[in-house]
Amino acid sequence: MTKYLVQNSGPLHGIVEISGSKNSVLPILAASILSSEECQLEDVPGLKDVDIMCELIESLGVKVQRNIEENTATINAGIIESSVAPDDLVMKMRASMVVMGPLLARTGKAQIHLPGGCAIGDRPVELHFKGLKALGAEIDVSDEGLVTSKTDGLYGADIYLDFPSVGATENIIMAASLATGTTLLENAAQEPEIVDLCNFLNKMGARIKGAGTDTIKIEGVKELKGANHVVIPDRIEAGTFMVAAAITRGTILIKNMLPDHVKPIIAKLRECGCEIYATDEGVIVDAEGKDLKSTDIKTLPYPGFPTDIQSPFMALLTTVEGRSAVIETVFENRYMHVKELKRMGADITVKDRCAIINGKAELKGAKVDATDLRAGAAVVLAGLVAKGVTEVDQIYHIERGYENFVEKITALGGIIKKVENA
Ligand code: UD1
Repeated sequence: MTKYLVQNSGPLHGIVEISGSKNSVLPILAASILSSEECQLEDVPGLKDVDIMCELIESLGVKVQRNIEENTATINAGIIESSVAPDDLVMKMRASMVVMGPLLARTGKAQIHLPGGCAIGDRPVELHFKGLKALGAEIDVSDEGLVTSKTDGLYGADIYLDFPSVGATENIIMAASLATGTTLLENAAQEPEIVDLCNFLNKMGARIKGAGTDTIKIEGVKELKGANHVVIPDRIEAGTFMVAAAITRGTILIKNMLPDHVKPIIAKLRECGCEIYATDEGVIVDAEGKDLKSTDIKTLPYPGFPTDIQSPFMALLTTVEGRSAVIETVFENRYMHVKELKRMGADITVKDRCAIINGKAELKGAKVDATDLRAGAAVVLAGLVAKGVTEVDQIYHIERGYENFVEKITALGGIIKKVENA
């Protein structure tokens, strides 16, 4: 079993460069199958989830050429041979669902198993189905969870999402791009990744307006052409390194991040006492020698505090003066890191969706699990300030979403090693 061994490292110092966004590139790869022409992508992060999405579209007959060193990908969906997403790939990654809209739009059918992915609660997909049905898809779900869908033609529709689901918004936008007529999507997700996807689709010839607001209008077009696109920086990776500076009381210059995408994280870190400022080179997070104090956070859809930074931020809150409250409103079971942080000596009590953290705990190394992607980041960050060695198991979750995590932390002075059979 491959593990990380993490040690108390003192304050992290130096420069880190943020990779392209995982949550942007996954739907963008799926969107590239909407055109029979070639698409070229830059800043494609080298991640397990990206490997899975590439494998998934390749299994449909799409040609994908990646240059891992250059972080580029060329996708040619000239011919789509299959509309069946292989179960093993779909079960590994929930984001596989976003191939459903493009497949329906391009081939008139799609078969996909209900997805797997991070075990952070019941993650239904009825909003994806509701939207695609409104556009004219017939969808049948078997008792075994096999989703079979087909359409004789998609037609624009007015769709109101009960919740601004990121994946459902993406699936609907992609399908509606090739539908006949206009779709009005209300209570849509407003995440920067939605804007990035729509920018890519518009370069392909789609007619989408309003991305980044809660109302998106998509005028369907007959066909889409190839496009070149540079993926936006990963705001969650940026947020994780901002928290890394704070938890280790270090100073990190973060390059290739967009401060506008992480406003709530900046606000909350400042409330704790960190200094954060933009320079020509990037954003500096300075927690050097600071006596950080508690704050409360509540996760919300964008532009609220991101659920994906909840667990790393909770690790930070265990080290600051005072009592903090965390309320998770996006996922109902996103507290699996609490057990792991408690193993390391954190004082956290969870009641329903609220966690109370009593700060200034003496964290100590322990054997912990990366129970999901971001929980994994949380225990690594805690390990950097805990006494002794923290052994992090199930690190494949971390590698799903953080490019060169060990290398980036090491370059900042963090003591972390990837070991086999520890
Ligand atoms: C995306 C991100 C993930 C992030 C999440 C919320 C990707 C690849 N992943 O996931 O990192 O944590 O947004 O910001 O972009 N829901 C329903 N019915 C549905 C769809 C969703 O009830 O049909 C619920 C989910 O169970 C969850 C909430 O809505 O509680 C948010 O889910 P959603 O916004 O769809 O997240 P994902 O697109 O899966």
